[in-house]
Amino acid sequence: MSESIAITVVGSGYVGLVAATCFAEIGHRVLCVDNDEDKVNRLNQGEIPIHEEFLPELLGRHRSSGQVQFTTDLGRATHESQVIFIAVGTPQSQTGNADLSYVDAVASEIARSIHSYKVIVEKSTVPVYTNDWIRRTIERNGVSRSLFDVTSNPEFLREGTAVKDFLHPDRIVLGADSEKAARLLAAIYEPLTSGCYYERSDAVPGSRSAADLPPILQTSTKAAELIKHASNAFLAMKISFINVVANLCEAVDADVEHVAKGMGLDKRIGKRFLSAGIGYGGSCFPKDVAAFRYVAQQLGVDFRLLEEVEKINELQKERFFQKIRSALWTLRNKRLGVLGLSFKGGTDDIRESPALEIIQMLLDAGASICAHDPAAIERAKKELPPHACLQFTEDPYEAADNADALVVLTDWAEFTRLDLKRLRYTLRYPIVIDGRNLFDPWQMQELGFTYLCVGRSSQHTPVESPSAKCLP
Ligand code: UDX
Ligand code: UDX
Repeated sequence: MSESIAITVVGSGYVGLVAATCFAEIGHRVLCVDNDEDKVNRLNQGEIPIHEEFLPELLGRHRSSGQVQFTTDLGRATHESQVIFIAVGTPQSQTGNADLSYVDAVASEIARSIHSYKVIVEKSTVPVYTNDWIRRTIERNGVSRSLFDVTSNPEFLREGTAVKDFLHPDRIVLGADSEKAARLLAAIYEPLTSGCYYERSDAVPGSRSAADLPPILQTSTKAAELIKHASNAFLAMKISFINVVANLCEAVDADVEHVAKGMGLDKRIGKRFLSAGIGYGGSCFPKDVAAFRYVAQQLGVDFRLLEEVEKINELQKERFFQKIRSALWTLRNKRLGVLGLSFKGGTDDIRESPALEIIQMLLDAGASICAHDPAAIERAKKELPPHACLQFTEDPYEAADNADALVVLTDWAEFTRLDLKRLRYTLRYPIVIDGRNLFDPWQMQELGFTYLCVGRSSQHTPVESPSAKCLP
């Protein structure tokens, strides 16, 4: 039987809420603290503020049993916990660097309530050396060095699959500079690393099992901080790379999906994160690439590669906008149906969503838009300035109704299940401009669509055709 540890998670956003719920799921007692009183009240009443698979079930169960509780009282939570995870926002500041003022404020407040040994854990993505700053802040508030350790346990959760990613991780990175802190952190994850969680009949299903346990990687705190930034920057680079390859494919009339498949079969490259599209967005990649670049610059290390990654990402959105414009000749007074508002499928998060940027470009060019998204409409309404030419609908076919073209901006699985024949006759002109390569160009052509996508030509064979298959 694993030890139940008293944990505080500060921040009940996308990361904090999932982490708090999953710590309870693996048997710990969790206090989740947020300084937003209204949010805490809503969470205590059972409201689930984000769209995330498995979260409603797990949170419902652990909230009812009292295993996870929500509060605004960080002092009490600190007093009652052995381990405190900091998961408040670290947004991008004007310089590109991460704004660590929330982390700083939380560290000072924690310091005021430390009377026995605590392990403080950075869960938010932070630049290297942040652990030093947190330590100094706590010491400046008069806490003896022997009463706490600052560690780093980065999250690698993808929105939409965050619960699964937490409970079935590729790896668990524990950055600690003291044995005592490292042991306590390792004990928290013991239900996963020993496999006992996967033997439970009510375990969330996923890729891990008792026969295939997640590896634990113990490093220095600084190395763990770097692992997080380096991982996100590398994934962003992979996406920008394939997007340029897609543009090359368009220039020579080749299919980027064939090229990505051919590259990805090389185990050194790997097939994931090679989907070409309209560029990456979300609350992490844009800010983390900028912050990592800034850190390198501050340390006198030339990492201009990351500037190129960012530049390519910006151009990719512009290029897609031009593709829509050239398909329709002019955009003024054109009516467009738009599918997708969130920064990727499976989430209602619209932070740094390429979809919203492209919608804004289309509105600025004079188009009128009827947009649909399975989960992000309410958030998008708050984010996009009200515009006479922008409407939203809960029905994807209504978005397409009498439109001059349909534009796909987010990779929701729901969109791949649409009735294409119905869509064909709902549109005024059968033009689909797909920024996420969701449909088969051949099928679209056969159905009578003019189908424009990213890095693929409708003249080419689908990726599963004999010419693209590997010989045994
Ligand atoms: C987190 C991390 O902060 C970020 O570094 C990482 O890259 C992605 O995940 P996220 O969970 O998405 O961000 O943040 P957000 O949804 O903004 O939630 C942060 C929560 O912290 C909010 O509920 C906010 O009210 C709370 N907060 C903020 C505090 O409780 N105290 C503060 O001082 C500041
Ligand atoms: C990311 C990291 O994957 C996760 O490990 C980290 O902890 C938080 O940041 P997330 O932002 O939820 O997760 O989304 P992710 O699935 O990584 O996608 C990020 C963006 O890249 C999305 O806009 C997505 O559409 C885009 N993307 C992703 C592509 O354009 N092509 C791909 O092949 C993969």
